[in-house]
Amino acid sequence: MLPHHIWPDTATISAGRLQIGGCDAQALAAAHGTPLYVFDEATLRRAMRAYLAAFRRQGLPFGVHYAAKALLTTALAQLVAQEGLGLDVVSGTELLVARRAGVPMAQIHFHGNARSDAELERAVAWGVGAVVVDTLDELERLATLTAGRAQPQGLMLRVAPGIEARTHRYIATGDADSKFGLPPEALDAAAQRIRASAGLRFLGLHAHIGSQLFDLERLGATVAVLVRLAARLRTRHGLTTEELSPGGGLGTPSLAEETAPDLEAYAATLSASLRQHCAAHALPLPRLTVEPGRSIVARAGVALYTVMGRKLAADGSIRYLYVDGGMADNLRPALYHARYTALLANRASAPPGPPVAVAGRYCESGDVLLRDVRLPPAHPGDLLAVATAGAYTLSMASTYNLVPRPAAVLVAAGRARLIQRRETEADVLARDVPL
Ligand code: LLP
Repeated sequence: MLPHHIWPDTATISAGRLQIGGCDAQALAAAHGTPLYVFDEATLRRAMRAYLAAFRRQGLPFGVHYAAKALLTTALAQLVAQEGLGLDVVSGTELLVARRAGVPMAQIHFHGNARSDAELERAVAWGVGAVVVDTLDELERLATLTAGRAQPQGLMLRVAPGIEARTHRYIATGDADSKFGLPPEALDAAAQRIRASAGLRFLGLHAHIGSQLFDLERLGATVAVLVRLAARLRTRHGLTTEELSPGGGLGTPSLAEETAPDLEAYAATLSASLRQHCAAHALPLPRLTVEPGRSIVARAGVALYTVMGRKLAADGSIRYLYVDGGMADNLRPALYHARYTALLANRASAPPGPPVAVAGRYCESGDVLLRDVRLPPAHPGDLLAVATAGAYTLSMASTYNLVPRPAAVLVAAGRARLIQRRETEADVLARDVPL
């Protein structure tokens, strides 16, 4: 009954109540409070395995690195390690969580465009597989920091491939004007610096054209650009590209009428482009690395909110439902006009009423989680479940209005494990220093 390209694999409606991972949503809300983020372990593991299987079938060397920015907790990083994926991190603290979870350092890529010396030093000291470098300035700092090391630090260069992704402009990162990536013309200077630095070992090239992508063709084109640049690095500078990464970005539908991109087609498009262009440039096949974030965690996560009140129109119809969370735990509707699907977890089978808007509790007009959503007429105390809420929600959460951040649980086989405890007022006040 539930569309499973939107809801977790194990989500069902039983006697009108939402169940996830064999747990009753209302019981979870009662036990842990709301807002509550519920992650389905089966969906997470299957998504990770599906990526590995799709690339394995292409028969070339590959790596799948989960992009931690979409969501990172130690438990999630433990699942990543158990399933044999690598990890992409973008801060010293993400790296710390990865280490705590036991992710092998060799399988970590450390990205960033403005990292501190302390973060770079940590990455080098802990032996991350690759530091991905975005600017010549950072390359310079990394070269200084690694000079004289017996074991050279692996490094990849991130380039702006000049490919515009069809997505929200805030999450497009591949065009020449993007804040990310070295312009291709800077590669020569970068190559010279690397060749002159005994502490650095060139591993390959990286690009990420954007997020929430459904257009495979542009991803294939990104691989083509990277191969062309790899060929140039080889002929001009004698550098061999052992690894090539077109980043992450595969989209996730969040509405029932949207369709999920085909993972097999994605793997096939990237692999075919790599094979074809490497052959054309007589380059040996590098390892193909992808970095999915959203497509691993979005659908596994369901956000539960309690309906706190309503704003009625003059005719008595509901204009707004107010819930106990909002833009501080899910900034995406406000920031990218992201749309979501929701249901009433305690009365999922009741007939829907006219469309309503669901607004959050924060002091901001833009704090509207859903517009025009058809739900059974709701009352205070009802439980709202928002689908595909796993990615870029908790990881971007704030304590706006000094509201403590939500808890997260991992559900499987009727059991719920707390993976992130609810923030307390004491946590929030711990950083607050009176005069
Ligand atoms: N690799 C790199 C270098 C990235 O910058 C990103 C995302 C990824 C991988 C993972 O992309 P994914 O597979 O998750 O699309 N906050 C925005 C998304 C920002 C994405 C930033 N980079 C949102 O909520 O839509």
